[in-house]
Parts: sequence; C-alpha cells; structure tokens
Amino acid sequence: MSAPLVRFDLLTLFPALFDGFLNESILKRAIQKELVAVHRWDIRDWAEGKHKQVDDRPFGGGPGMVLMAPPTVAAVEAVRASAEPPGRLIALTPQGRRLDQDHVRELAREPRLILLCGRYEGFDERILETLEPERLSIGDFVLSGGEVAAMVVVDAVMRLIPGVLGDAESAVDESFGPDGGLEYPHYTRPREFRGREVPEILLGGDHAAIARWRREHRR
Ligand code: ADE
Repeated sequence: MSAPLVRFDLLTLFPALFDGFLNESILKRAIQKELVAVHRWDIRDWAEGKHKQVDDRPFGGGPGMVLMAPPTVAAVEAVRASAEPPGRLIALTPQGRRLDQDHVRELAREPRLILLCGRYEGFDERILETLEPERLSIGDFVLSGGEVAAMVVVDAVMRLIPGVLGDAESAVDESFGPDGGLEYPHYTRPREFRGREVPEILLGGDHAAIARWRREHRR
C-alpha cells in the first residue's frame, strides 16, 4: 500500500461541516483509491477546563469572538507531530494571500497540507506569531469561518493530483494555462436548445477546423 500523494489535515471547530464534502463523488473516490488522505481534527479536543473553551471576547472590546491561542497552537503542534513530514501550514483568513491557480498547482506538489480554519472575528495574533503559517484567502469577501475556504483549497488541489479525475472529468486547467489561453464555449446534446444551434463546425470530424474554431472563440 503506497502513501497518498497528498495528505490534508483540517483543523476546525466544526469537523462535521466537512461530512458532505468528503462524501462527494470525486473526492470520496480519491480517498478510497488512497490518492488523497483527509484527516479532520477538532481544535476543542485541545481546550482546557470543564467548558473546553476555544474562543473568547477580544481584549479592548469590539464585536465577535476570537480564537484562543492555547488550544489552537497545541492542536497544530500535535497534528504536525503526529505524522511525517510536518507539512506546510496554511491558515485560512481573508487577510491572506489570494489563492490562484498557480498557487494551487504549487500546493498540489506538497506531500502534506495542514489547513487551519478560523472562526468568529479571527485568530488571536499570537497564534499567527507562534506558528507563522502561510495565510491564504480565497477572495476579497468575509466568510463566517475558514471551513468553506479550506474546502475550496482541497477541491482545487485534489483535482490536479494524478489519477484523481477520470477521463470523463478531464483534468484540464487550461483556463489558467501557462499561455494564459482562455476557455472556449462548450456544447453537448441536444443540438438545438430553444432555437440556439450548436455551431456546425463542431458537429463534423474536421479536428483542425475544430481546433481553429476553439482558438478563435477563446474567452
Ligand atoms: N475566512 C473568512 N473569510 C475568508 C476568506 N475570504 N478566505 C479564506 N478564509 C476566510
């Protein structure tokens, strides 16, 4: 049995948020084929005291709750030490570097990615100072937590791992290819929909003509 090509470790206060996502067709199959491994960790398991507190009000006042440093740092350190290699640590935050396809390709070459999901107003600054994670944003908008952003990262990365996508799903990421070539319009059956016809050239077998048409219709 060979090791998965990429192992993800997801640290979150809400591991169950990933239930449906991990059971979705492509990712589920990739996990079954052992091309990808996904481990979920509940930060609360490292919280102390009767109440297992993981978040608290911000010093200085203001809205929302802040993820506490002690359980979060302990969780990350334990997870990193639980397997080899310690992995590339990424904190999901709207203040991070914006994810793009070049970055996704780079992440897909890593054997292990540790994704730290924040909640509430964010991370206690000492979490970031202590762990020095790479900070990643999936866009200039604010989510209520890093979990959805982590799913975006896992999805975009796993589909680049060799063997994860079948032919039918095609592992192209040509929209963001090295030549910056943009995607062309796609059509499938039926040949006519509400008066709109599939371009005639695509229905014939002239592959050179089809390639030319697609080049001309890149967008
Ligand atoms: N957490 C909250 N908003 C986020 C975003 N836009 N990207 C990554 N993590 C986030």
